[in-house]
Amino acid sequence: MNISEAIRARRSIRRYKPGVEIPREDFQKILEAAMMAPSACNSRPWEFVVVTDRQILEGITKGMTYTQMLKTASAAIIVCGLPQAQAGISEGFWPQDCGAAIENILLQALDLGYGTCWCGVYPRESNIAAVRQYVETEGVPLAVIAIGVPDESPAPRGHYEESKVRFL
Ligand SMILES: Cc1cc2nc3c(=O)[nH]c(=O)nc-3n(C[C@H](O)[C@H](O)[C@H](O)COP(=O)(O)O)c2cc1C
Repeated sequence: MNISEAIRARRSIRRYKPGVEIPREDFQKILEAAMMAPSACNSRPWEFVVVTDRQILEGITKGMTYTQMLKTASAAIIVCGLPQAQAGISEGFWPQDCGAAIENILLQALDLGYGTCWCGVYPRESNIAAVRQYVETEGVPLAVIAIGVPDESPAPRGHYEESKVRFL
């Protein structure tokens, strides 16, 4: 699958084959892709926590709405932003930087045969608190990415919206 195909094939996956263990090398490849994303002044203001513990995954579904897919997902990758990594150089760009890293996670995972679902944490305080209950970080929990082998195959969307584009 080339990158053009991956971008167009990707969909959020909310049902996964249960009991699948993702090898450590796959997580490393996915997180390497995340860390290859561009970031303001190359500040790399991120931290990644891979969660496979079922109790923690279950706990997150209780504290955060719209995360029920974690019940069948093999794991969650918690993406935390590190605003302090940008102090004095490029303050405030960290959510954009983390967003770029997240998109790389989704696409690299797809290329390895996994499905994902990006669940937004930041800036909703109740979500941040729910994640902090289970994940210690000096950063700000920004997103929970569910990952696993898909047990559904939503069709590619394909939506180029002419009205949202202007050429000047
Ligand atoms: C910032 C952000 C937060 C999201 N939060 C959730 C979420 O909490 N739960 C969920 O099921 N999907 C979540 N999504 C996935 C979107 O619902 C999904 O990307 C959108 O409906 C388009 O569908 P697609 O990803 O299949 O193209 C989120 C996506 C983004 C980018």
